Amino acid sequence: MRHLCAVVPLKEGEEARSWIMQLGLLDLDHRIQREGDHLLIPVTGDGDIGYPLTEAELEPVKRRETDYRSLLRLDPELMEVLPSSFDVIGDVGIVRLDDALIPHAQGIAEAMRGVLPHLKAVAVDRGVSGEMRVRQLELVSGEALETMHTEYGVRLHVDPSVAYFNPRLAIERRRIASLVREGEVVINMFAGVGPFPLMIDRHASPSEVYAIDLNPEAHRLMVRNVELNHARTVKPVLGDARSEILRLPMADRIIMNLPHSAHEFIPYAVPRLKDGGMIHLHLICERDDADRVVERVLGSSPRPLRVNRMKEMKSYSPTMGVYAVDLVIA
Ligand SMILES: C[S@@+](CC[C@H](N)C(=O)[O-])C[C@H]1O[C@@H](n2cnc3c(N)ncnc32)[C@H](O)[C@@H]1O
Repeated sequence: MRHLCAVVPLKEGEEARSWIMQLGLLDLDHRIQREGDHLLIPVTGDGDIGYPLTEAELEPVKRRETDYRSLLRLDPELMEVLPSSFDVIGDVGIVRLDDALIPHAQGIAEAMRGVLPHLKAVAVDRGVSGEMRVRQLELVSGEALETMHTEYGVRLHVDPSVAYFNPRLAIERRRIASLVREGEVVINMFAGVGPFPLMIDRHASPSEVYAIDLNPEAHRLMVRNVELNHARTVKPVLGDARSEILRLPMADRIIMNLPHSAHEFIPYAVPRLKDGGMIHLHLICERDDADRVVERVLGSSPRPLRVNRMKEMKSYSPTMGVYAVDLVIA
């Protein structure tokens, strides 16, 4: 099929393209083509462009689709409940689906891989459960979920089917690392595969970062990650934070990233905090109830604490939020 185009001398090409664009007449669906010492610039109409017009065969512009939903053809009521986004951990895509979409999971996974061709696997997320907060994942495309994830220069071996990892916390990890002063002793009570300790090791100058987790699979991956990142200050500890923390030196900073029950661990953490130290606590609660939940946390402490900063990091449900709360000794 032939397309209308303006014939523009080669040396005026860029200027003419911007001019045609300003007029709102540039045809973005076709490629500009060179013919001898002229360019054929595709246009959408024959307004007063100031260049002669002709018709020519032009190649279409290949645009990569970025919304996986546009690659799917499902019933309208199913299209409406497709999630607008999904998580990417390394080269693995993880998506939460409404029950009605489960029979279409394979097609949805292929559409996700269609817009992000580097994905080698896709899993459906059936929620986080148990003490070890492991995600129930159903592999629907690809072969394995173990992958390598990078954030702010930290490389992490991750297998979300055996140990918790949340790529959405990268900004919070970087924020906490930016607060760490030279020579600090840091304890991460629920360290998973080590993303908080490794971020601190890379972007701050602590003396030691103790990284406790009771999931042996998380610990195994964390030990690999410490080696991979040559993280000299990170000390992985396998066990229950309640007892392990008693064996560690007093800390300048304690990270408590177990949002459903971190408050239960406050009585174990606070006695290990130096005067002037800080606790970074994550909490999930109803937005309307957030102040009362924080009061309960403060009430569980053997020493008076006060809130230094509190911010909703992300939404958990329409009425609930995940909060980052920085606490200091009052
Ligand atoms: C929400 S995950 C956070 C992991 C990590 N900080 C991250 O951001 O990826 C909580 C972690 O705490 C660990 N955990 C739960 N109870 C624990 C306990 N009593 N002592 C030590 N670790 C515990 C779980 O195994 C899990 O890896």
